[in-house]
Amino acid sequence: MSESVLSLYIDRINEYLELSVKGEDTVTQAMRYSLSNGGKRIRPALTMEFCKVCGGDTDKALSFAAAVEMIHTYSLIHDDLPCMDDDDMRRGKPSCHIAFGEEYALLAGDGLLTLAFETLAKAKLEPEKIVKAAAVLARCAGHRGMVEGQTLDLQGEGKALSLDEIRRTHELKTVEMIKAACLLGCIAAGASEEKLAAAEKYAYGIGLSFQIIDDILDVTSDEQTLGKPIGSDAERGKDTYVTLLGLENAETEAQRYTDEAVKALSVFGDAADGLKQLATALLNRKN
Ligand code: IPE
Ligand code: IPE
Ligand code: MG
Ligand code: MG
Ligand code: MG
Repeated sequence: MSESVLSLYIDRINEYLELSVKGEDTVTQAMRYSLSNGGKRIRPALTMEFCKVCGGDTDKALSFAAAVEMIHTYSLIHDDLPCMDDDDMRRGKPSCHIAFGEEYALLAGDGLLTLAFETLAKAKLEPEKIVKAAAVLARCAGHRGMVEGQTLDLQGEGKALSLDEIRRTHELKTVEMIKAACLLGCIAAGASEEKLAAAEKYAYGIGLSFQIIDDILDVTSDEQTLGKPIGSDAERGKDTYVTLLGLENAETEAQRYTDEAVKALSVFGDAADGLKQLATALLNRKN
């Protein structure tokens, strides 16, 4: 999508998120701190765009979009904890556990995960859509989705992994939440099974590409641009596409997965031009 469409989505998402987390107690402050600003909001933007492309009302998809971003943000808070990646900076500011302490970071993550399902349940959509969305989001985020990916990621530290093993980790820790984002937009719009399947294929392509680029930027970028530490993967002894294939071949793989994602959009016709643009923008992103 064009920069202006994306930034309109981001404004609406940010406004919705701000209204969702009210209160001055420490856990709520920590939740708001991590949720506000700095994030690229790619996942909720995908929810909004898929809803639009499938002919739905994007206002009604906002609560689904916000729920996805809440779970994503919780995953980042926990990902940064000393027992996980042990990273001190996130979204251009001190990580949640640096700002609030580990115990509050843990609880802020728990709070966001739970609030996501409260938010989703309150969507102004037909109950069947809400139930379907809840099942998809729970599955994608949970111990057969992102949580399993984070588990494999952790267990792979300090080990020589095959490309298949790295891909499997990426599929779970990153693709699953991007898949949830795309599918929830389709579900909000009441899209056909054919469209849901196409959205899932698109999510697979941009999701794998997204994590390969994340691993490339961890080597080639700088902390200022990324808003998080660089060299984190090497420090934790994590094998990535970059360590196995080298930078150039990793870039080629990211391009290949992006191409596959774009191909999957044919069922949507011209309506998917924005999703095509977004796939390319994500491939060329600098942060
Ligand atoms: C970071 O996701 C975690 C990965 C799956 C690579 P993003 O790069 O989307 O992080 P934010 O939301 O913009 O901070
Ligand atoms: C994180 O992957 C995936 C999550 C589910 C949070 P990374 O650990 O590479 O993400 P960053 O680089 O810390 O954002
Ligand atoms: Mg990690
Ligand atoms: Mg990390
Ligand atoms: Mg990373």
